[in-house]
Amino acid sequence: MGLIRTLTKKEVKEKVREWKKEGASIGLVPTMGYLHEGHASLIRKAVEQNDHVIVSDFVNPIQFGPKEDLATYPRDFEADCALVESLGADLIFHPSPEEMYEPDFCTHVNVDVLTKGLCGARRPVHFGGVCTVVSKLFHISEADRAYFGQKDAQQLAVVRRMARDLDMDIEIIGCPIIREEDGLAKSSRNTYLSPQERKAAPILHKALTRGQEMIENGEKDASKVKAKVSAIISSEPLARIDYVEIVDWNQLQPVETTDGPILCAVAVYFGSTRLIDNFIKED
Ligand code: PAJ
Repeated sequence: MGLIRTLTKKEVKEKVREWKKEGASIGLVPTMGYLHEGHASLIRKAVEQNDHVIVSDFVNPIQFGPKEDLATYPRDFEADCALVESLGADLIFHPSPEEMYEPDFCTHVNVDVLTKGLCGARRPVHFGGVCTVVSKLFHISEADRAYFGQKDAQQLAVVRRMARDLDMDIEIIGCPIIREEDGLAKSSRNTYLSPQERKAAPILHKALTRGQEMIENGEKDASKVKAKVSAIISSEPLARIDYVEIVDWNQLQPVETTDGPILCAVAVYFGSTRLIDNFIKED
């Protein structure tokens, strides 16, 4: 059976009702489109683990701040459909903003504590917008499992907390970061980089790998690891650090030691393009 392309919530719900009647499991992969190998890895896992897979392809306006890249965010729906179909997903949901948000829409889902630092501190409306759209997608799809990349580690932690705190009956599956051959984490936003910036950007992975090695070799002082990671990134003239942080992987609060589960996350500007990357130490 070919890929079902759907623009309306009603159609998705009808299909979901059909699948549920058969007792089938449903996997959901929320995306903003312009799909690459990172998204593909999530879709592959969803196809492996579920009877039916829905991929949402929606550039969610309410998670962008007024000075962010909503208007220029890259889009290619036809290419997305071809990739999603080749991976064996069943349905691609591509709503308009009007389909998702009534003109007098005024209900938001906000997660506290975990959204105060890292990207949340710089992007005040971002995670409220993400949690709101993701909860809507959870309701529309009635999925059993939803797939999120560790690339956006704070987003993964926040969505997981939201699902737990609000008793959403859905399993949140985290998936590893997919990278280019030179180590740069795949991202739709990499297309904004000039050739020189693109050449410089793998410094993030290089710096994070060095930080990870320090911890593996016994370094307990988080400030020393942060200093090393920052110094390596700063050695690249085209890189401008937004933040380099080490936080605990449960509450996302800054830590002084590298004991226990931690997230080391960076956000760095290359020109006007802001890239994020991270590593997680699970125990
Ligand atoms: P988007 O940036 O399109 O990413 C969709 C999913 O793909 C996210 O879970 C993200 O972490 C994952 N992803 C992106 N690049 C990846 C990579 N290199 N390796 C592994 N996974 C990767 O994140 C969003 O969209 C939106 O905020 C969304 C959750 C869809 C809500 O609008």
